[in-house]
Amino acid sequence: MPHNTAPSSFLISDPHSYANPAAVSVHHLDLDLTVDFTARTLAGTATWQLSNHAGATELLLDARALTIEAVTLDGTEGTPAAFELGPDDAVLGQALRVTIQPETTAVSIRYRTTPGAAALQWLSPEQTASRTQPFLFTQSQAILARTWIPCQDSPGVRFTYEARVQVPAHLLPLMSAENPQARNPTGNYTFRMVQPIPAYLMALAVGDLEFQPLSARTGVYAEPVTLPGAAEEFQELENMVTAAEDLYGPYRWDRYDLLVLPPSFPFGGMENPRLTFVTPTILAGDRSLTSLVAHELAHSWSGNLVTNVTWNDFWLNEGFTVYFERRIMEKLYGRPYADMLQVLGHTALLHTLAELGPDSPDTHLHLNLAGRDPDEGLNEIAYEKGDYLLLTLEHLVGREALDTFIKDYFARHSFRSMDTASFLSYLRQELLDQHPGLEEQLQLESWVYGPGIPAVAPPVAAERFAAVEEALQQWQHATPAVALNTTHWSSHEWVHFLQGLPERLSTAQLTELDNTFGFTHSGNSEILAAWFPHTIAAAYEPAEAALHQFLTHVGRRKFLVPLYRALLATPDGQERARRIYAQARGNYHAVATSTFDALLGKPAE
Ligand code: BES
Ligand code: ZN
Repeated sequence: MPHNTAPSSFLISDPHSYANPAAVSVHHLDLDLTVDFTARTLAGTATWQLSNHAGATELLLDARALTIEAVTLDGTEGTPAAFELGPDDAVLGQALRVTIQPETTAVSIRYRTTPGAAALQWLSPEQTASRTQPFLFTQSQAILARTWIPCQDSPGVRFTYEARVQVPAHLLPLMSAENPQARNPTGNYTFRMVQPIPAYLMALAVGDLEFQPLSARTGVYAEPVTLPGAAEEFQELENMVTAAEDLYGPYRWDRYDLLVLPPSFPFGGMENPRLTFVTPTILAGDRSLTSLVAHELAHSWSGNLVTNVTWNDFWLNEGFTVYFERRIMEKLYGRPYADMLQVLGHTALLHTLAELGPDSPDTHLHLNLAGRDPDEGLNEIAYEKGDYLLLTLEHLVGREALDTFIKDYFARHSFRSMDTASFLSYLRQELLDQHPGLEEQLQLESWVYGPGIPAVAPPVAAERFAAVEEALQQWQHATPAVALNTTHWSSHEWVHFLQGLPERLSTAQLTELDNTFGFTHSGNSEILAAWFPHTIAAAYEPAEAALHQFLTHVGRRKFLVPLYRALLATPDGQERARRIYAQARGNYHAVATSTFDALLGKPAE
C-alpha cells in the first residue's frame, strides 16, 4: 500500500502527547459506549481508522486511568494485537503502544473508564437543577480526552467520528456531533460528526435534557426547569451567528446549539463543535452575560476551524476568539457596549501581569508548557494579550485590512492546525510586508516572545465607564450611595464599579452599599463574584450565607479561585477556606478540585 504524506503540522512535536502522528495518524473514530451511572463508568470500543505515513509498525495512543481490555486489528472481530501500556505520568497518563502492520487499516480497543477519569463528572440527582435524574458531562480540553477515549490527544490531529451510545432510557445523550432533539424509548443513540476535529473537542453529556429551537439552525438544550429561562436568555443566538458570518465568513458546522450544564461545570463555556457547553451562571435574566456565548461561537472559526497545533500556541485559539467575540458584541449592541467588555478584559490582563511579574515567561504569548500540566499553565495572557495584539494591529492598519486578513486566514486554514511561527510568517507575508516599517512599529517579536505589553499598544477606554468612575469618586468623597446616579447601569458598569472600590472597606461602607444596591442578593454571578472579595476582606456578616451558597454550588473555577484566595488572605481564612472546601469539593469537577487541592490541601474523606 502506498504511504500517504503526513500534514506538515505533524512535524511539530507536542510535549503533551505520546502519539507520533508523523509516522501513523488516526483519521476516523467509531465509538461504541455504554454509560453506566451505577458503576460510574463508560465501557465499550474505540475503533480508529489509520493513515500510516511511514510504514510504521507501532501505533501510539494517549491513555490515562483507562482499563484496556483487548485490542484487535482490522475490525472488532479481527486479529488480536499485542499492546502495552507505558509508565504512568500524573499529567500525561500512559502511552498505549499497539503493534500493527504497515497494511493495518484499523485498530479496535475494548476498554472502560475508571471512576477517577478527570474528564468526567458524574452528578447525583441532587447536584442537578431538577434534582430527579443523574447527570454526566465531559470536559476534554486541554488533555483530558485520553481519560475517556484512548486517542491521539494532540490538537494537531483531526478525525471524523461516529458513535453509538447506550444510556438509561429516561435520559438524553448529546455529543459534539449531529444531535437528537428528543428522547427515544430504547436509550440507544447514534451520532455522526462529519467535520474533522481534534480530540480535545470530543464531548458527551447525558441527563434529563430537553430541546427548544431558537431558529432554523440554532437551539438550546437544558434540564426542563432551566429550559424556558435559557431560551429567553439566548434569544439573540441566530443574530450572533449571522453577525459572526458577516464578519469572518460562513459558519461551517451546520447547526449551532447550546447546552446549559449544572452549576458545577468548571468553565464559563466550552466550544464543543455544534454544541457549546455553558455554565448556568450566565443565566442572569437580562441577557447581560451573553458575550460568553459570542466567545464560544467565535471558536467555531478560531480554534475549531483553525486550531492551535500544541497548547504552547493556545493564544492563537483564545486571542483571536476574544477579539472576534467583542466584534460580534459590537455588531449586536454597538461600540460603547463592546468597549466596556474590552476595558473589563484589560483590567483582568493588568491583574494577571501584576501577579505573574514583569519578566515572567508565562506572560509571553507563545508559551513553553513542556513538563507542566497545561491546565495550570493556561492563563488570561493568551486571551487578553492575544486580543490586545490584534487590537494594536487594527489600530495600525485599520479595520478593513485586518478584517480581510482574518477572514482569509480562517478560509485558507480551515480544518487545519497552526503553530505560532507559521502564523507569524503568514502574517508577515499577507499583511505586514505590504506596509514598510509596520513590523518594527508593531514590535511583533516582543508581543509574541517577550513579557508584558509592548509600548505601541493603544489605550483602552469605555465612554460608558466615565459615569462609573465619577460615581466612585463621588462616593469616596462623601456623597451617599443613594445619591449616586446609577440609572441604566448594566452588570458591566456594576462590575467596574465594584472593581474600582478601595480594597479595604469598613462594615459601615459595605452595609451602605449593600442596602442601597442589593449586591449580596444579586442574581448576577459576575456582580456576586466582584462583590464577595470585599465582603470577605471585611468579614461582612450579612453576606456570609450567600457566599457559602455560592461556593458550595458554583463550580466555575474563574469565580472560585479569587474567592478562595481572598478567604486565605484573612486572619482565620485558612481554616474557613478549608472548611468550606471540605463541604463543597463533592460538587466540583476534577478540573477544579485539582486546582483547589493544590491551593488548600486535599480534605480528609
Ligand atoms: N476553551 C475555553 C475553555 C478552556 C480553556 C478549557 C483551556 C480548558 C482549557 C473556553 O472557550 C473559554 O475560554 N471559556 C472561558 C469563557 C470566556 C468568555 C473567556 C471561561 O470558561 O471562563
Ligand atoms: Zn475560549
